[in-house]
Amino acid sequence: MSDIPRHLSFIMDGNGRWATARGLDRPAGHRAGFEAMLRVVDAALVFDIPEVSFFALSMDNLARRSSAERQGIYDLVLRFAREYAQPFAKQGIRVRFFGALDTLPADLGDAIADMHSLTDSCDRLKVGIALAYSGRADVYNAAKGASDCADVERHLQSYPLSAVDMLVRTGGEQRLSDYMLWQIAYAELMFSDILWPDADREFVRAILCKYAKRHRRFGGYGT
Ligand code: FPP
Repeated sequence: MSDIPRHLSFIMDGNGRWATARGLDRPAGHRAGFEAMLRVVDAALVFDIPEVSFFALSMDNLARRSSAERQGIYDLVLRFAREYAQPFAKQGIRVRFFGALDTLPADLGDAIADMHSLTDSCDRLKVGIALAYSGRADVYNAAKGASDCADVERHLQSYPLSAVDMLVRTGGEQRLSDYMLWQIAYAELMFSDILWPDADREFVRAILCKYAKRHRRFGGYGT
């Protein structure tokens, strides 16, 4: 693979439909989505992608989903933070949750803080997870008092993740849903019909093939 994105990001959509198609409840879809996220992290290691990030829960999801569904996602994140901090640290994976983390239940906030500090010095792969996140609020807060664009970037919640090179949304919808609005300024976009729980290493390989064929010009003429 010749051209690997530095930062590959995912809007993980389709968990609910995946579960419904199998006669399961929505939390079962999110559990399968969590397994898919782990497979994609593994693929990032295999393909030497330096940064990968995931949209796990938006501010609007928090406001509009049932408390049972929200709790199901919180439970998954708690399990992830507690069970995967050590193994990820051993593999050199630095995890960074971003969003309105101060609005999360205290035990979840503490587990996230522990995972951050345990993996802080890792430098093989950065994993970003947007939780209770709003791209508009992120830009609004980062821009307050900033002196220039570079200053805004340093104050984004996703910092130190770099600008997104390729943004992939699964589940067939073609919208951005308030995700990393500043960070995707020059991202290549890909919309896939696969449902997120079906994402795996082969899916990531296909994304990388597509990315390698894109001609990025950043406002210039290109090569
Ligand atoms: C959107 O699909 C998905 C979500 C709102 C939740 C995504 C969360 C996970 C995959 C869990 C991640 C786990 C950790 C530990 C970070 P949807 O439910 O809107 O699907 P639908 O459009 O088919 O209804």
